[in-house]
Amino acid sequence: MAQIKLDIFRFDEAVDTIPHRDIVSIEAPENITVLDALEEAKAQVDGSISFRRSCRSAICGSCSMNINGVTGLACKTNCKDVVTKEGTIKVDPMPNFQPMKDMVVHMDPFWDKYTRLKPYLQPQDSDADHATERRVSPEDMRKLVDVANCVMCATCYALCPVVSVDPSFAGPAAIAYAYRFIEDVRDGQRKERIAQISEDYLWLCAHCYACSYCPKHVDPHDRIVDVKRAAINDRVMLNERGPRHALTTNKTIKKTGMLAETELIQGTVGRFNIIGLLKVAPLGLRMASKGKLPPPFLKPIPKVDEVRTIFEALEVPVS
Ligand code: SF4
Ligand code: SF4
Ligand code: FES
Repeated sequence: MAQIKLDIFRFDEAVDTIPHRDIVSIEAPENITVLDALEEAKAQVDGSISFRRSCRSAICGSCSMNINGVTGLACKTNCKDVVTKEGTIKVDPMPNFQPMKDMVVHMDPFWDKYTRLKPYLQPQDSDADHATERRVSPEDMRKLVDVANCVMCATCYALCPVVSVDPSFAGPAAIAYAYRFIEDVRDGQRKERIAQISEDYLWLCAHCYACSYCPKHVDPHDRIVDVKRAAINDRVMLNERGPRHALTTNKTIKKTGMLAETELIQGTVGRFNIIGLLKVAPLGLRMASKGKLPPPFLKPIPKVDEVRTIFEALEVPVS
């Protein structure tokens, strides 16, 4: 047995205006999970400590919280792996969510984005058109199985820096789940789904990889890349700023070996969009004053061919 000191975030929106912290010490086997440690604290010391949990086996997705600064499933995190030298484990609610009571947060923004996807199959034909069930080949199904493992724990959403600055961004889990239907051969709403997720700011993803930590190995970041690729291949909403920004970035680096910011601004806003260009003019002037705006016609770097070779090796042809 070991003594585990839990440093617990405490807040009850019904009575508190600001949060405080409680230090709760428990006697427990040192290899128990953080969730079990919290259960012990609740049973032995303070029955009002609140957190969500159900399966205790990394299946239901309900126990995600911040543990010593890292968000993850409490039932999948062993105390001995995270306890500090001082014997403490600090638990907080997931970031990017409004706390309700202790580690319980308001999940509505996360679920709203999921609901907007219409997360169910919408085939173009009806069941009556099929004598048997709709068959999916093993190759087509293999693309979907990882995403289907998502347990909606919202860990990736809590980790996403874009969500923290712009809560209208759909977030990694919703985009990964959109992919699950976009790539399902039985679904008849591929383009509509791509358009919907593009409207929900698909292109705001900064590709920081923070969401790559996923307890179920869904790897939402790679699915976001796949959805962007699908938008380009299917030519859905390519005239929006997000895809224009991405395509111009690729074009300028491939052409010159460098990011040509002057061309990037024009390509993103639109060369003939005078009002749009006037709106970004102050930014352009600030960049120019700091020496960050290169001349409009950049000379390619030496050995630009090597850069182009990388592009050619990685490019998936746009149909
Ligand atoms: S993608 Fe992973 S981290 Fe995100 S909600 Fe699903 S299971 Fe949780
Ligand atoms: S890769 Fe994109 S979705 Fe994932 S955490 Fe970073 S910005 Fe958010
Ligand atoms: S309790 Fe179900 S995932 Fe942790």
